[in-house]
Amino acid sequence: MSKQWETWDEEKIKTFQETFLTWYHKEKRNLPWRATNDPYAIWISEIMLQQTRVETVIGYFYRFMEQFPTIQDLAEAEEQKLLKVWEGLGYYSRARNLKAAAQQIVAEFDGKMPNSIEEIRSLKGIGPYTAGAIGSIAFGLPEPAIDGNVMRVVSRLFCIEADIAKASSRRPFDEAMRTIISPDEPGEFNQALMDLGSRICTPTTPKCEECPISQYCLAYAENRQTDFPVKSKKAKPKDVYYIAGAIEDQGSFLLVQRPETGLLASMWHFPLVEVTKEQYEALQRTWAKEEQLQLDLIAEDDALEIFPDLPVVWQKRHFGEITHIFSHLKWHVLLFYGRKRGELTLQDSEWAAKESFQNYVFPKPQQKLVEQLKKYQKLDKDF
Ligand code: ADE
Repeated sequence: MSKQWETWDEEKIKTFQETFLTWYHKEKRNLPWRATNDPYAIWISEIMLQQTRVETVIGYFYRFMEQFPTIQDLAEAEEQKLLKVWEGLGYYSRARNLKAAAQQIVAEFDGKMPNSIEEIRSLKGIGPYTAGAIGSIAFGLPEPAIDGNVMRVVSRLFCIEADIAKASSRRPFDEAMRTIISPDEPGEFNQALMDLGSRICTPTTPKCEECPISQYCLAYAENRQTDFPVKSKKAKPKDVYYIAGAIEDQGSFLLVQRPETGLLASMWHFPLVEVTKEQYEALQRTWAKEEQLQLDLIAEDDALEIFPDLPVVWQKRHFGEITHIFSHLKWHVLLFYGRKRGELTLQDSEWAAKESFQNYVFPKPQQKLVEQLKKYQKLDKDF
């Protein structure tokens, strides 16, 4: 594979950097983590920005910094409080790793964010991308920060054919970036690439006529913009099927807490039972629109066979379904409503008044289930 960046001489690299940075200084997005040079704030923002859109991150970033303004505060964070500010953002191990890394910083670096790339890399949850972003933005180190956006831009700039879905493809991007990155303003340079990738050099219809560096772009010269990046298809997320029971006892609902490890660790939701696709579809058919949408139409004698041992009278219809995609799984959840009619406790469960739901950490699928329940019950809004 030809390494086009090796054909750029010093002069070309310099004028490229000047052109690109001039554009960035004029056009850069005004983002809260760009108004600070606190390495801690920059770290938090970069972790949040992984797999999450800028518009979503902004509110979370403000709330997080208010709740945990210093590394010390984060190191001492109570787990449920920490998860609560992360609620809905997904990939919750990011939040746990942040806390572990903050403790590492307190223990090993006197409570201050370390400033060498190796030390930054040694922190829990920090890989090459995040280390490059923090190193360049917070400390001015000439390190690339290669994420999906940057790979798209750089693959077009030099017609890099490497499959970006493969970890081994980092190398040509790393090499290319080390050739072109501005040694004087590496953080600005990296962020210029991020902005270009999100606003101009977009996946399907790049706006090349607005691009400040199109005259340097090989894919543009050859009219092959959309051939890049080369990316093999990811495996489809695996479908999994659940029945959820919203079980009420005088305005309180039964919630269960997940184990301390694994997917959605320590978070709360309605009791869930995994079923097969066939069982799921059968329940979906059998219990569709059986009865009027009124709570008093509960058949005493109709046990839902999915929750055979629970002392609950179930509404004879389901309340619709929600789906949620995690990176590798797609959850399908069919919601049933029931009322307690005897002693009912489950392991790791609590009865929670619906007004106190905000005190629990709910993952996205549970938030969707609550919305679904509200829709069907036309309940008061204080849920
Ligand atoms: N995506 C990841 N890091 C970013 C940053 N610092 N600014 C804008 N978008 C980003």
